[in-house]
Amino acid sequence: MSKSELSGTDTGTTAGYDLHIFVCTNKREASTRPSCGNMNSEALRAQLKTWLGQRVKNDPKAQALRVRVNASGCLDYCEQGVAVAIYPLGELQLHVQMNVPDSIEAIKSKIEAEVQRLILSRQSDSE
Ligand code: FES
Repeated sequence: MSKSELSGTDTGTTAGYDLHIFVCTNKREASTRPSCGNMNSEALRAQLKTWLGQRVKNDPKAQALRVRVNASGCLDYCEQGVAVAIYPLGELQLHVQMNVPDSIEAIKSKIEAEVQRLILSRQSDSE
């Protein structure tokens, strides 16, 4: 089923997001296996949500983009730092660590590149 088939045409709304980020916030309490929730991933999710919201809000070319940052359950990459999935890229960003600024900047760069791609795509669609 394509995205257009999934749109909420019955209600006059558009379903889905142009850019959807999933941050694993799964937290294991009694396990030797690491978990993203124990690596401060909820703070990462909150930080990305605020940053992306401001990024889109402050750019007239990006304001129409529908973006969302969600918490997700375990993505099964638990031993590799916090796991973040970026859609529609379908890309998984691993080794994200709140105490390593370069890893936060790396994921923001990936997201920013996708925002730019979406803006250009919208512009070419309207021409
Ligand atoms: S707990 Fe996050 S990938 Fe498993």
